[in-house]
Amino acid sequence: MGAIVVHGGAGKWKREKLKDVKEVLKESALKGAELLRSGKVVDACEEAVKVLEDSGLFNAGRGSVRNSRGEVEMDASIMVSDGRAGAVGAVKGVKNPISLARWVMEKTKHTLIVGLEGNLELEGSEEGSGDTVGCVVTDGRLVVAGTSTGGIKGKLPGRVGDSAVIGAGTYAWGRGGASATGDGDEIIKVCLSFFVVSLIDLGLSPMKACEAGIDLLLRRTKGKGGVVALDLEGNLGYAHNTKSMPVCYVGPDGKPSLLGFEVEEETEEGNEGHESR
Ligand code: GLY
Repeated sequence: MGAIVVHGGAGKWKREKLKDVKEVLKESALKGAELLRSGKVVDACEEAVKVLEDSGLFNAGRGSVRNSRGEVEMDASIMVSDGRAGAVGAVKGVKNPISLARWVMEKTKHTLIVGLEGNLELEGSEEGSGDTVGCVVTDGRLVVAGTSTGGIKGKLPGRVGDSAVIGAGTYAWGRGGASATGDGDEIIKVCLSFFVVSLIDLGLSPMKACEAGIDLLLRRTKGKGGVVALDLEGNLGYAHNTKSMPVCYVGPDGKPSLLGFEVEEETEEGNEGHESR
């Protein structure tokens, strides 16, 4: 029993990065799956996201884009389906914002803390190495969702996106969990992850719930994005209205499947690279 899904963000990808993206997503999902087998479902989510933050390949952690002042400000959140949640917004000088979000959840009486500063020099990424990262994992008893991002390239200092907002970028409750990626300023308006998890809790499959969520995002806001979800049985949901949203899913059979790499079908001329979200 148990399943994990990790994503590397909704957007467009340069062909030459895809091999590394696949390897790191697999490494992340298998690391989480290993912890899941030892019964550590919250660790599984945190550690899977840390692999992605540390890789420098995505717009999160080491690969985060810079704001209009040339600084790296990051957002992250984590939620457990029993109602525990923690989030951080616009944090600086921190290697793993997802761990800070877990710290907020477990060691403080708060849910969201903004503006925390560590002492690490984070260079960030000029071009935006990829997109927001996230993970949803279940051991059949609980679902845990986590999301981490550097936000939008050139954003105003202090801007906080959906990845720090419980219900928007991350949500888990009852029978499901979800992690979103994309236009954070729009995703916040439709509470995308809350919407998807509420549909799962009402009995929709995670796949149908994710499709309905992306449909809502597009109809209400014209926003671009994606979302991944799991239910307690480990059934996968994912949907996006961008070119790609690289995903690795490890289901109850323990085998990793890579999905959402549609960009590989494009010609070199048609591959414009990615946009960071
Ligand atoms: N989805 C990430 C952001 O907009 O900050």
